[in-house]
Amino acid sequence: MSASAPQIAFDDRMLSLGLARVAEQAALASASLVGRGDEKAADQAAVNAMREQLNKLDIAGVVVIGEGERDEAPMLFIGEEVGTGNGPGVDIALDPLEGTTLTAKDMPNALTVIAMGPRGSMLHAPDTYMDKLAIGPGFAPGVVTLDMSPRERVEALAKAKGCAPADITVCILERPRHEAMIAEVRETGAAIRLITDGDVAGVMHCAESEITGIDMYMGSGGAPEGVLAAAALKCMGGQIFGRLLFRNDDERGRAAKAGITDFDRVYTRDEMVTADVIFAATGVTGGSLLPAIKRQPGWVETATLLMRSKTGSVRRMSYRTPLSSHEE
Ligand code: FBP
Repeated sequence: MSASAPQIAFDDRMLSLGLARVAEQAALASASLVGRGDEKAADQAAVNAMREQLNKLDIAGVVVIGEGERDEAPMLFIGEEVGTGNGPGVDIALDPLEGTTLTAKDMPNALTVIAMGPRGSMLHAPDTYMDKLAIGPGFAPGVVTLDMSPRERVEALAKAKGCAPADITVCILERPRHEAMIAEVRETGAAIRLITDGDVAGVMHCAESEITGIDMYMGSGGAPEGVLAAAALKCMGGQIFGRLLFRNDDERGRAAKAGITDFDRVYTRDEMVTADVIFAATGVTGGSLLPAIKRQPGWVETATLLMRSKTGSVRRMSYRTPLSSHEE
């Protein structure tokens, strides 16, 4: 298989069900490891299953957002070619288990996540941090920006929503690095939903604020997760802005290697994901987006969100299968 070969059109509609299967199988593989305190085992099970399923798809895929660089990730590393090779050239962004700690501790919103688009459609984000800001659909472009202070963001969103800052809920990763941000948001009177991990889900919550109660996501987290979140919002609607953050020269080197030249650039959603994509996520632990994998004697059931940005369609699929076929 060659990364540059096929000139077959990216048929997002036909490929989407295959993508859902990939997310489902990764979740099924980690099901028996939910709440068992072993993050690594849960992640590895999801990685193996995701790779095995991806390799069954008729695509000439390249992992652009993956488990890490070739020398640090034995599987699904950045640049790895996946699929049978008999199909369109596609970019793949994945996180086989977004929220490994959430899974190990059986805490909410651990997901398996994968997005696919035509070759060249996704930012090759290095494995660094990214400063992120996201809101749901229905607002004028740039109503909030990364250059605003946390207070300004809350006030601008409240004004655009026609409510008081106290009626806004912001989702933030609970980290010492966010202490000042959290304090400033609290001063506005806004509520904060603190999460311990899982900012892809955190951002996605903004797109369904009537269900999740979250209006805005802000703070720094993984840059790869930023691109995955951008792919999700491209399907669900909403805005996300991201600026790469670098702690040292090694990280700047990683960015340069990934082809980044402007280290201060603020990326919009459509600059992180430049063409129509498909996105699938399966719930591992339960949360406000998706229910948990349900294990009963003899069978197991998953719930998957499958979305296409071209149509804006959001499909929620439940899948039930005999347990034995996954544990033999
Ligand atoms: P894992 O899937 O590797 O467990 O990552 C979870 C996560 O919380 C991401 O959602 C987030 O972007 C990142 O880790 C935050 O990094 P850090 O824990 O270093 O603050």
